[in-house]
Amino acid sequence: MITTVQQHLLQEQQRHGDASGTFSWLLGGITLAAKMVEAKIRSAGLGDVLGAFGAENVQGEQQQKLDVYANNAMIHCLGLRDSVAALVSEEDEEPVTFNRSVERGKYIVIFDPLDGSSNIDVNVNVGTIFSVHRRVPALSLDESILQPGTEQVAAGYVVYGPSTVLVYSAGNGVHSFTLDPTIGAFVLSKEHMVMPEKGPYYSVNEANLATWPEGYRTYVEELRAEGYSSRYIGSLVADFHRTLLKGGVFLYPPTLKQPKGKLRLLYEANPLAFLAEQAGGMASPGSGRVLEIKPTGIHQRTPFMVGSRWEMERLAAVLTREEEAR
Ligand code: AHG
Ligand code: MN
Ligand code: MN
Repeated sequence: MITTVQQHLLQEQQRHGDASGTFSWLLGGITLAAKMVEAKIRSAGLGDVLGAFGAENVQGEQQQKLDVYANNAMIHCLGLRDSVAALVSEEDEEPVTFNRSVERGKYIVIFDPLDGSSNIDVNVNVGTIFSVHRRVPALSLDESILQPGTEQVAAGYVVYGPSTVLVYSAGNGVHSFTLDPTIGAFVLSKEHMVMPEKGPYYSVNEANLATWPEGYRTYVEELRAEGYSSRYIGSLVADFHRTLLKGGVFLYPPTLKQPKGKLRLLYEANPLAFLAEQAGGMASPGSGRVLEIKPTGIHQRTPFMVGSRWEMERLAAVLTREEEAR
């Protein structure tokens, strides 16, 4: 018989000692929003959901209609669950709370409602990324939101592609579920996913090559010399999903335009770093672990390199060598 994500979450919450079911009820809000977004994407060419919304978000980026729809879906579906103390979204400047006491909420959900917006209009994979923290009663709400990634209770993403796949971890391995449209449920497709030790691909936007710190250029040249192939979709979720399944490395190094990196720590790097480590891979901002960064702002950016152990250890060695040669 099939195992749905709800059933899998119930097993997880028993492990979590969260018999009250708030944990699975909370993540049920995410899967409901994902199904709403998926339905919109499937009919995108027919309805009025393509193109720009006509406003800018806090990042100063042109919001796409689907960014706004996905954001509204996540806030609507999660806001109704009183286990949610606050929501933090790429699309909202400040955390979103509800007209109930924050103290009643056990969890904070941080998300990128629609990742890969530039790909929506050309029918290329996009995604939703989420990260879950506990609200820490001894801390203020802001301090609970700005916990390091090591404190995440769960993290995951949905990739909307030829099939719609949900991948999540609650700290006990990485599991994937495929949306079965005939029953409208996410059905377990792979448990305890392990990222290959070494992969065939590197994944980076080579247009920025000239402005990376030297070590990254050296590293990519070494991978090319070793026969790696290059894959870059421009949707982080899709590039990460391939890296999780096939192995290799994804890089968004510091650039001249974005010296602190382009990707956002709280709702892009941390959740994917959590999944990468749960699957035996690694994730670094250049040195050390992404998950150990102490956040100072909800939209802060970080350089983000993530992938198989072999490629990530090689990157660390090259960057150290270059540092010492300075
Ligand atoms: P978002 O659509 O949520 O703003 O994210 C876009 C991100 C990420 O998905 C992708 O890896 C990266 O932007 C691509 O950036 P470049 O176009 O600079 O390569
Ligand atoms: Mn994104
Ligand atoms: Mn986004």
